[in-house]
Parts: sequence; C-alpha cells; structure tokens
Amino acid sequence: MCVTQNPMKAEATTRLDETIALEERYQLATYKKMPIVAERGEGVWIYTREGDKYLDLYGGHAVAGTGHSHPHVVAAIKAQAEKLLFYSNLVYSTTRARAAEKLVSVAPAELSKAFFCNSGTEANENAMRMARMATGRQNIITFSGGFHGRTADSISATFLGKYREIGKPNVPGHLEAEFGNIEAVRALADESVAAIMLEPIQSMAGVHMAGSDYYNALRELCDERGIALIYDEVQTGVGRTGEWFFAGSEAGAYLVPDIVTLAKALGSGIPVGACLVTEKISRSIKENDLGTKFGGGMIAMVAVTATLEAIETDHLLANVKTTEAYLRERLQEAPQVAAVHGRGFLLGIEVRTAAAPIHKALLDRRIITGTSSDPKVLRLLPPLCLQRGEVDLFVEALLSIGG
Ligand SMILES: Cc1ncc(COP(=O)(O)O)c(C=O)c1O
Repeated sequence: MCVTQNPMKAEATTRLDETIALEERYQLATYKKMPIVAERGEGVWIYTREGDKYLDLYGGHAVAGTGHSHPHVVAAIKAQAEKLLFYSNLVYSTTRARAAEKLVSVAPAELSKAFFCNSGTEANENAMRMARMATGRQNIITFSGGFHGRTADSISATFLGKYREIGKPNVPGHLEAEFGNIEAVRALADESVAAIMLEPIQSMAGVHMAGSDYYNALRELCDERGIALIYDEVQTGVGRTGEWFFAGSEAGAYLVPDIVTLAKALGSGIPVGACLVTEKISRSIKENDLGTKFGGGMIAMVAVTATLEAIETDHLLANVKTTEAYLRERLQEAPQVAAVHGRGFLLGIEVRTAAAPIHKALLDRRIITGTSSDPKVLRLLPPLCLQRGEVDLFVEALLSIGG
C-alpha cells in the first residue's frame, strides 16, 4: 500500500531541518539547542515558522521579563531607530539621561549612579574593577555554585562546575567560599579583599537561597572590614523576584550592597548591562577608568526605559507575587515535586527522580523549561506576565507526565 504524506507537513519539516542544518553548518556548536525554530513571540508564547506554539517558562533565557516583543518596548525601539541608532558616551543624550534617571529611580536610594555596558559578564568585570579601585585591594571572594559570566575575570570568579576550567589560565586574586556559611567567608575576608560578590539567589547551581540573616551578616562583615559588597543581580534583578531588585528587599533583610550588576531582562532582549553604585563607590571612579563603546547606546537606552515603564504600567511586580503563590499551591498536586526553591519567577522545582526527562517530556508537550547544574532541579524563569491559566497548562502537563 502506498502511504501519501501530507505535503504541507512534509514541507514544514523540510524547512525546520534546513534551518537546523544551516545553523549547524555555519555556527560554532556552543549550546545544546532545543529543536525549535523560533519565529515570533508574544507575551509568554513563542511561535515557530511551522505554526507551532510553545509556552515559554524559560523566558528566552531569563531575558524576556516584560514578555516577548512587548509592544511598548518595540514601539520605543522603532521610534528611536528612526532618529539615531547610536552615539557613544562622547556626547550627551536625552535618551541615555532618561534611562539612567529611570533606572536609579526604581533602585534602592543608596544606589545613586549607573554605568551602562552590554552584558552580564561585562557588568561583573566592571563591578570588580570598581571595588578594586575603591578599596586599593585586589582579592575578590565569590562562592561555590556561583556563576558570573564567561569573560576572563568573571569566569575566574565562577566556582560552579567546570566553568572556571574553561577560562584557564584564570585571573589571579579570586577566593572561593562556601555559599550560606558565614564563618567560611569570614575566614577569608582579610585586608587583601576588595569585594565579596554573590548571586543573592544562586540560579544555575539549582536555585539556592540563604536565610535573611546570612545577607545581614555579609553586610556587617563588609562594613567591619572595609570590603565592597557586590550583588550579581543579572538574574534576580528587574522584577524577577517580585521586587525591582533583591537588594533592599525583605528577603535580603532590606540590605543594600555597594554595587548591583544587571543585564538579561534589563533591555527586554536588546543587549544591555549595568552597574548601579553608591555615591561612595562613584567618588573613586575617574574619567577613563571604565568604558565601553556600545554601553549607553540609544537603542539599548530606550529599551531600558521602556522595559521599566512596561513593568510599572502592566503591574508586573504584583503579578509575579500573586502568580508565584498560585503556582506553588498548584505544584502541591504534582507527585513528582519534592520541593520548590527560590522566589518570584526564579524558581527551582526539585523533583524526586531526574529533571532532564521531565524537561524533555514538557518540551514534547510544547512547554519550554530550564534545567540546572543540579540534576534534580528544573528551573523556571518565565516572563513576568505569566498568568494563572498558563500555570494551569504547565501543572496539567506535569500531571500527565507522572513520576
Ligand atoms: C547570575 C549571572 N551572572 C552573570 C551572567 C552572565 O551574563 P551574560 O551572559 O549576559 O554575560 C549570567 C548569565 O547567565 C548569570 O546568570
């Protein structure tokens, strides 16, 4: 018997295969990719060229905070593109001035100045440099399980898995302390230490968070020994925890570090990073100490302003809190869930067996989630606009997978 193939389906499959083959032919194979050709996005949804629709609980790698292609952000970028694509910090710009003002206005009052760059790793490199300049010291303490990026200094500050190995020879002056153990960090924090830098919620490690007294103890230790405290909020910042930042939030005992670094969701998908610093840190930075050509470019700056405005007008911080509570409640129905870690929309779902097959089974049901370096933890970093109905779709899918 002759089997006739649906010609439309066959054509779609060919196009999917062609795109995959083309990328694999011309791009270095640096990421393990999902077999999805993303064509269009709207809110929490990604649409493929083949007409399939995926619920994106990984938020475009934690970048699509406002949701995919938020209309306000898109309109602002379009309008700016018609006027001026770029000029560097050699000239003043109303667009840049507004972005800096807006970002500082949503940050804790102590963080009064911004430095713009292009990525998370670059923000961390600049934060460490500022701490060294401000203290006249060299060493940086970071934590086992922490991830800070892939450029030389940031990867040397990364004590998660094998990342540091990739960056060999590492930049000297990096010390590792156990996350959550104040005595371990106290033992290292001598007069050679410029900064203690941490992800306040360690994401890639499997979503680890300390008790609020730990953040308190770190702040006290830094004050006592003249050390700068840096929060790497590349993941936790810009609304992800249901607060603008972990810095100054209740979960972090209302403490404010000396420097906060940001990237990911800050530009809704336009590459942009930033350091927010205190007045004291800013006084130690002189002309030409820091710089980057593209940092503070106009397209990135309108994206920052529009992103922060969209978070406000769409009431996304409140949405994160209420939807997180609903998600936690519904997850109690799923027998494979042992615990839920994290805060807001940075959640680690600890499963009883292994996370990878569940991640794969969810993908088969057109739901994108993330894994972590903990084989039992599935990570969710959805757009901040995720609603109850979409939580229901996720939980129903989990229930259909079983243990
Ligand atoms: C906590 C944290 N810091 C820094 C980075 C590096 O950011 P980027 O990839 O923008 O350089 C990442 C990236 O995943 C991150 O999760």
